[in-house]
Amino acid sequence: MKTKNLIDVKNLSVSFGNNIILNKINLHLSKKESLVIIGKSGSGKSVLLKCLMGILKPNLGSIKIDGVDIVNTNRTDKENALKNIGVTFQNGALFDSLTVWENITFKETRFFGFDKKAAKEKALSIIQNLELDKNILELYPSELSGGMQKRVAIARAICDQPQVLFFDEPTSGLDPITGKNN
Ligand SMILES: Nc1ncnc2c1ncn2[C@@H]1O[C@H](COP(=O)(O)OP(=O)(O)OP(=O)(O)O)[C@@H](O)[C@H]1O
Ligand SMILES: [Mg+2]
Repeated sequence: MKTKNLIDVKNLSVSFGNNIILNKINLHLSKKESLVIIGKSGSGKSVLLKCLMGILKPNLGSIKIDGVDIVNTNRTDKENALKNIGVTFQNGALFDSLTVWENITFKETRFFGFDKKAAKEKALSIIQNLELDKNILELYPSELSGGMQKRVAIARAICDQPQVLFFDEPTSGLDPITGKNN
């Protein structure tokens, strides 16, 4: 049976050696709800997000996304649950060897069978909403400014309109006007 909440986090605890980072965190978010987490540097924001994204296994606790416990489930169910999620990492984490349009449509081409033409068209429609020039589609991440890389990472996260979006510092490094518009 599916839970009412889209995201249910219970007693989430993470330690690295004796260093306790997260201690019994509980979070409950329903559809269309947003949550901003603010805390000083090193307080565990990115660690929490990495747990929610399924890339860091907590020491204790459960994380349910749309009813699927991504900590304690098999790989197939976990991957299916995570397909419904878009993420940006604090450092952007674009794929260096892929062009901008290949980065933006990574999920579409790998998992949803988009061909090159459809993927490029999709990438174009997304970047225009983020005030990025269409000429950057064929560039590689190293050819972009830091702020442009950040916006391409956002474009990749929102490309397939996932049900859940996790952003780790999406506007840091952007000028105030661009940050506000995004
Ligand atoms: N893989 C790891 N191994 C050991 N310690 C880690 C690891 N990842 C994070 N930490 C530690 O966990 C703590 C929280 O780190 P985290 O990256 O979540 O901070 P943050 O709140 O995102 O900070 P910032 O605002 O600077 O991004 C820090 O003390 C960090 O050193
Ligand atoms: Mg961080």
